[in-house]
Amino acid sequence: MSKPTLWRTPTRLSRRLIAAKQPYRCLSCSFRLAQEQAKQDAKTTHFGFENVPESEKESRVGAVFSSVASSYDTMNDLMSLYIHRLWKDRFVRSLNPGLHPTTATTTSSSSPPQPQTLLDIAGGTGDIAFRLLSHATDINNDTMSRVIVSDINPAMLSEGKKRSLETPWAGSERLSWVEANAERLSMLDDASIDLYTVAFGIRNFTNKQAALEEAFRVLKPGGIFACLEFSKVGNRLLNGVYKRWSFGAIPLIGQLVAGDRESYQYLVESIEKFPSQREFVGMIEQAGFMVPEPAWEDLTGGIAAIHRGFKPV
Ligand SMILES: C[S@@+](CC[C@H](N)C(=O)[O-])C[C@H]1O[C@@H](n2cnc3c(N)ncnc32)[C@H](O)[C@@H]1O
Repeated sequence: MSKPTLWRTPTRLSRRLIAAKQPYRCLSCSFRLAQEQAKQDAKTTHFGFENVPESEKESRVGAVFSSVASSYDTMNDLMSLYIHRLWKDRFVRSLNPGLHPTTATTTSSSSPPQPQTLLDIAGGTGDIAFRLLSHATDINNDTMSRVIVSDINPAMLSEGKKRSLETPWAGSERLSWVEANAERLSMLDDASIDLYTVAFGIRNFTNKQAALEEAFRVLKPGGIFACLEFSKVGNRLLNGVYKRWSFGAIPLIGQLVAGDRESYQYLVESIEKFPSQREFVGMIEQAGFMVPEPAWEDLTGGIAAIHRGFKPV
């Protein structure tokens, strides 16, 4: 039989002391809290084809975009063979941003139309924001509406600000930049935004549904949610060619041009993990939006798709 050792006695004693000091309820509360924390840690999500704890995804995605920021625009052109520019043009044209004579609303018959506040989420290097402002100004003669570009990644925003110096909106009040997570837009009031856009951003979010609910919160009644994202290709032949290109060529181009194969491997894997067009409509509706028919528009056979939702008035 083993003799009681010196360390056993104080351990038992200290357990008793702790039990005596802490009432039963507190212990069970802390036990529950610990369980909830453990459950939280056990929740996983996709990071490309990998399953990672939800708490890790944001920093892993952050590392990808910090790494690709300086080569992001060149790589977009090479990876998409310049087609992303056409998709973005189509996206913005379909939204017809800015006050236009036929639909401009006034608060009273004597007051002038109110400028719109447009929010480009995950706006990165500004591709959508610059198009929104060009369209509002050149097509709709709207020189007042403004765009807020929001992104979680300071490196991407800094590339965007640099690029903006070559646009007519450099230093203008019509263009502002905000660092924020799309899932928590605490800097924005409820019902303060007319148009919310997100292009090639939402598939990177940890909690996409939370971001959709936040979009619903910040939009005005009648405001529009619009998303341009990679999607599912219907045609088998096109899908075969596209998959060969994305899994074969894109990580390789990433390695040769940006010296970073892994980030581009993540980007193509994250496309695979994004829900189908139909599933994404369900998520938009679940956030409270009304989705008009047709519920989405496929671009290049579904390689990308545009989804829209209206916040009911
Ligand atoms: C593929 S880029 C798209 C950039 C730009 N919208 C475009 O179309 O070129 C994805 C962007 O999403 C941003 N992002 C990722 N997670 C985010 C989050 N939770 N909240 C806001 N932005 C996020 C990244 O920092 C990155 O700038």
